Amino acid sequence: MSETEVELPKTAAAAPAAATAPWWQRDDLALRGGHLHLGTADLEALARKIGTPAYVIRAPRVTEKLGQLHRALDRAGLDHRVYYAIKANRTPQLLSYLAGQGLCGADICSPEELLHALSCGFREEDISFTGTSLSRADIETLARFEGIAINFDSLAALDRFGQICPGRKVGLRINPDRGIGYGGSEMLQYSGTAATKFGIYLDRLPEAIEIARKHGLTITRLHFHAGCGYLDREMTQFAAVLEASRAFIAQLPGLTDINIGGGLGVPHRASDAPLDLDLWAKTIAQAYGGAGLTVSVEPGDFLIKDAGVLLASVTYRERRKAVEFLGLDAGFNLAMEPAFYGLPCEPVPAAPRDAAPSPFTLVGNVNEALDKWAEDHPLPDPQEGDVIALINAGGYAASMRSDHCLRGDARSVLLLD
Ligand SMILES: Cc1ncc(COP(=O)(O)O)c(C=O)c1O
Repeated sequence: MSETEVELPKTAAAAPAAATAPWWQRDDLALRGGHLHLGTADLEALARKIGTPAYVIRAPRVTEKLGQLHRALDRAGLDHRVYYAIKANRTPQLLSYLAGQGLCGADICSPEELLHALSCGFREEDISFTGTSLSRADIETLARFEGIAINFDSLAALDRFGQICPGRKVGLRINPDRGIGYGGSEMLQYSGTAATKFGIYLDRLPEAIEIARKHGLTITRLHFHAGCGYLDREMTQFAAVLEASRAFIAQLPGLTDINIGGGLGVPHRASDAPLDLDLWAKTIAQAYGGAGLTVSVEPGDFLIKDAGVLLASVTYRERRKAVEFLGLDAGFNLAMEPAFYGLPCEPVPAAPRDAAPSPFTLVGNVNEALDKWAEDHPLPDPQEGDVIALINAGGYAASMRSDHCLRGDARSVLLLD
């Protein structure tokens, strides 16, 4: 093909492409010079150098999101703290970067996460623990760290802790009996009409207060986490959860802090709009304004999910019946949410070919039928060896990965610009 032949279609395609920018495009995730860039990194070139599969995280994106959160909470007049939920992505380099920025503490859920957060540079007083199904050994470990804020999610755990550490200040994880249903999956339900394993329900709060009294514990903090992935359309449910928490607050005159968990969502598909942070913060201020409480929030996905991509290479292209399949060298074991919860990691070519898109079913390299990245997904003539970026793979991908079929390995790169 001559240079002119290459140039002409590119010029012709430039105007319509700008008019119909893909929904996920933003300043730091965009096609430039025909290649997908995350920050200043050319993802196709990066994949060719380091190999695939590879997780790539742009750390400054997380800092930007932290800044947005703080500013919205400030504008709403809320005294607040932000803890990053490290279960979303515990890559040590990322955690050390965040600890060094000083914009957030760490939300942790197990003794190992505690030791990991400390090893990455978070200070005890910047760590908040909320875990579930705690063993005696778990509680004994936690008890050694007097600086961390601990929220107990069962009467049994509270009682065990009180026996070991009478007289301490503690938090309770409550279940406000209202959930934020996320349209994508029933399995992401943390609270709601049916009983879940999380938190203390209102009918048992008097027993929790009595256990605390028996051990001289002071309940200074309430915690709840009522759902995942919420956007503007879920704000009414969010307001109902906050309202329901007030019945707990009313019974605890010594409270100084309310931790409203995580759950803030990011767009996953073209029909999603980003969460309006001012609306979110205003909703919180309406529920707790004037109560003199410090509001803590512990987002995972909101901070990290769209800061990361999983780079994969096309292994083969083949029609089965009427379906064009495209194989990738990355399976669902590297990012489970699409298969488990129906939360897509949209496949984006890192160097899209100059061709009309046609539909493909993208599958991974694990021997499970649910190992599918997308169905009927339009791509422009992909070929073996092409690099595909699975976007929104920053949260709950690397941290949940498994070794199923011994396909577990993936590199990890942290971008600092
Ligand atoms: C107690 C608690 N806090 C925070 C989070 C973070 O949630 P998200 O990543 O949806 O913000 C979770 C997620 O499971 C959680 O269970």
